[in-house]
Amino acid sequence: MAVLALAVACGGGETPAETPATGATTETTTQAEEPAAAVPGMITAADITLGDIDQAMVAKGKEIYEVKCLACHSLGTNRVVGPGWKGILEQRKPEWIMNMILHTDAMLETDPEAQAMLEECLVRMPNQNLSNEEARNVLEFMRTL
Ligand code: HEC
Repeated sequence: MAVLALAVACGGGETPAETPATGATTETTTQAEEPAAAVPGMITAADITLGDIDQAMVAKGKEIYEVKCLACHSLGTNRVVGPGWKGILEQRKPEWIMNMILHTDAMLETDPEAQAMLEECLVRMPNQNLSNEEARNVLEFMRTL
């Protein structure tokens, strides 16, 4: 409980009111296994196709990583500010990763696994404002780790 209180205090400084969409409705109530998809605008498995690894995308993703993510994420398993990325695809679904990148705040507010990480890291990942395509390139890069 003390950890939770700390996490709240830690994240409390910056609370961007970026709740996506007001008009859209949640389509079904039977998506219990994928809570993230219940938030309008979130990426679902149907939005992502993973084929053979595309090296051009990997290169672009690596560049984005070096500019915008490296300060907080290692490519190993060690935590810097956020968790290291090695083997991340074995733990997380691609759509979950895409949502964490593109809809960081919504994930930290609604997704239990993202919230558990926040409690552990005590730092709220700032949304890095990537485009969908950029996030997809980073995902491709992650597939090589
Ligand atoms: C200021 C530090 C910071 C930066 C910069 C940052 N992150 Fe994060 N990231 C975090 C923290 C901290 C977490 C853990 C969740 C939390 O506490 O908010 C996290 C979690 C994640 C996760 C989930 C990791 C897992 O193991 O499940 C992904 C994916 C991610 N970040 C992607 C990115 C990408 C992509 C970028 C660059 C475009 C980026 N992050 C930039 C701090 C950062």
